[in-house]
Amino acid sequence: MTTQSTRLDPPKRAGDGEEQRLIIQGGRPLSGSVNTGGAKNAVLKIMAAALLTKETSVLRNVPNLTDVEMMAGVIRHLGAKVTVGNGEVIINPRDVQEVEAPYELVSQLRASFVVLGPLLSRFKAAKVSLPGGCAIGERRIDLHERGLKLLGADVKIDHGYVYANATKLTGAKIYLDRPSNGATENIMMAAVLAEGQTVIENAAQDPEIVNLADFVNAIGGRIQGAGTYQITIDGVNIDDLHGATFDTIPDRLEAGTFMCAVMATGGEIVIEKVNPHHIYSLISKLQEMGAEISIYAPDTIKVKMVGRPRGAEIITLPYPAFPTDMQSPVMAVLASAEGTSIVSETIYENRFMQVGELRRMGADIAVKGNAAVIKGVPRLMGAEVKSPDLRASAALVIAGLGAEGITEVSGLSHLDRGYEKLEEKFRGLGASIWRR
Ligand code: EPU
Repeated sequence: MTTQSTRLDPPKRAGDGEEQRLIIQGGRPLSGSVNTGGAKNAVLKIMAAALLTKETSVLRNVPNLTDVEMMAGVIRHLGAKVTVGNGEVIINPRDVQEVEAPYELVSQLRASFVVLGPLLSRFKAAKVSLPGGCAIGERRIDLHERGLKLLGADVKIDHGYVYANATKLTGAKIYLDRPSNGATENIMMAAVLAEGQTVIENAAQDPEIVNLADFVNAIGGRIQGAGTYQITIDGVNIDDLHGATFDTIPDRLEAGTFMCAVMATGGEIVIEKVNPHHIYSLISKLQEMGAEISIYAPDTIKVKMVGRPRGAEIITLPYPAFPTDMQSPVMAVLASAEGTSIVSETIYENRFMQVGELRRMGADIAVKGNAAVIKGVPRLMGAEVKSPDLRASAALVIAGLGAEGITEVSGLSHLDRGYEKLEEKFRGLGASIWRR
């Protein structure tokens, strides 16, 4: 049992073998300024795209995350030389010969499935473990498979692996039944060294797709239209490709997490190194909920929250609509908002795993199918909670920051996959949050 107290000294660190936790003394308004790091969901794909060429690329503004280390492990396994550190990843893919990404690696980082496209493009062969489902949903790959087949690859699924082979890849028109990020990325990268033109219709339009296409163009690829529903890729030869030094975009989901936190605690913060264009749907929803948000400079926003947020209706949809990845963090705010809120999740089958944990903190949430009805309570109460997945762990931290008393969040391996030094950044904003 955690003893509630009004003051919290920095707790002792966990000993060997003990699970780390975040200990949060809630109820302190946030103030000050914070920087976001590079976008995890962009850098992982750009690391894969660096395999398209034989030359060395340097990626900058890279966050220090376990997911980045794991992706480095996957492409090292394929034969690339990879150095990670000081906000950079240097990738020398000249000696890549291996085209198999095994289960032990892909099962730890499902995003590494995206090596399929560049391997097939460069070597006309790839064997990549199926990533399988995950806690938040089924996460199918049928659209990846269909797109690569339309480019002329023979794609088979056998004993848990995707085998893709081609004597030649040829540009094609590919319509995606839904704008999947992963399918857009794999097909876009496979088409870079195909013969002729590929057009992806109903492509994902997310900023991370644009960043990936910009990288491919920086190394000599020819991609147009990224960021719209139609992406055109004109095939080039491998000798046209070269290395590049390239900056990753800021992490819009990290910025969104800080925005939600100040809504839960009250206060005023400035978020630097953020691209407001990437988070308009979130800005607009948080304004409706009562936040005062101003865009200061091209990469700086100020968020001020006075009093209790108002409840809202939210539906997650593909970009540029409200992002599924912000659904759990915003629910943590709605849990203590005035009035009743409805949140509908349309991207994943099972992304309400934070609900049970928020209920432990006093939230009144009922889930029916893909909708959650949240009756805002005046204040959440600190409790011991366990992170079930990455964005749910951010939700629990936000809830803890706004709650009365002490919250202990365990299951931090999820948080560390996608947030760099989150507790340090929150301490810089005046929060009492410690890892032990
Ligand atoms: N889908 C299919 N068929 C496919 C591909 C996808 O039915 O062939 C379905 C999936 O089952 C899922 C939905 O489409 O229900 C969306 O999948 P998508 O392919 O767009 O997602 P992803 O590429 O696997 C990325 C992010 C996720 C983010 C989604 C949606 C990375 C590493 N992951 O996943 O981020 O939720 O796009 O925006 O970029 C996170 O950061 O916490 C996270 C889960």
